[in-house]
Amino acid sequence: GRVGVLFGGRSAERDISLRSGAAVVSALAELGVDHVAIDIGEHSIDHLQKAGIDRAFIALHGPGGEDGRIQAVLEYLDIPYTGSDVQASAIGMDKLRTKQLWRGIGVATPDFLVLNKDCDWSDVLASLGGEVMVKPAHEGSSIGMARVSHVAELQAAYAAAAKFDAVVIAERLIRGEEYTVAILGERALPAIKLETDHSFYDYDAKYLADDTRYLCPCGLDAAVEQELQAQALQAFRSIGCRGWGRVDVMRDGAGKFQMLEVNTVPGMTDHSLVPMAAKAAGLGFSELILAILAESLG
Ligand code: DAL
Ligand code: MG
Repeated sequence: GRVGVLFGGRSAERDISLRSGAAVVSALAELGVDHVAIDIGEHSIDHLQKAGIDRAFIALHGPGGEDGRIQAVLEYLDIPYTGSDVQASAIGMDKLRTKQLWRGIGVATPDFLVLNKDCDWSDVLASLGGEVMVKPAHEGSSIGMARVSHVAELQAAYAAAAKFDAVVIAERLIRGEEYTVAILGERALPAIKLETDHSFYDYDAKYLADDTRYLCPCGLDAAVEQELQAQALQAFRSIGCRGWGRVDVMRDGAGKFQMLEVNTVPGMTDHSLVPMAAKAAGLGFSELILAILAESLG
């Protein structure tokens, strides 16, 4: 059947989605798979309904495309789609709900507080160890995020994040190592270690800088990497996620893994992390696309 590649959208991550969508489209073209590209930001739902697709590859990032809304539309239209279902997508797009859920079942995640304009800023900073990441709850690609260690900067960081989202959290900064674990179907792929000279792995370090370092193999002892993969897979499943995705993780100074968040539609540009992990597992980009499609719901 014909695959619809859904990309674009209207979120702040539209530019990244244009790149993910283009990469998926060119892989399908190379494979000779019948497909059609559908820019969800430009086309109406009517267009989606009339496109005659038998399956959707969702390459949308951020609210609208990654948070259950397009998934719900596809369910109404009876079109099977890649990745997580409506509920898991909605929780996964929400860092606050994700962390609350993880806390409730004992999955380690850094301490956090919900911010509002009346916060006692020095209290917030002190109770989270003196250095925090301020994050809009429903964004991706580090959009609206800031690393803050001075009370004087906290309110401004909150205001900047609040431009993107009604819900803003502050999370205890974990000083340690950063890893990401791609999930494909029932298994965790090899972990990638991320190293940046930026103050954190921000938008520029993700998409623009050429000095961000990606280590895969990640350098952990095999048993420790297996533990990381097992914890990431459990964190992913606990939200109800399925198909594919990526879990971002910190390893603190004591060697303990702390889950930061889950991404239910990770970036799929050819420089992105999931393709990198797949390659380490012996799966080329086109094979990865086919594997994700083979896992699709419906
Ligand atoms: N939110 C971006 C696309 C990612 O997680 O890769
Ligand atoms: Mg994310």
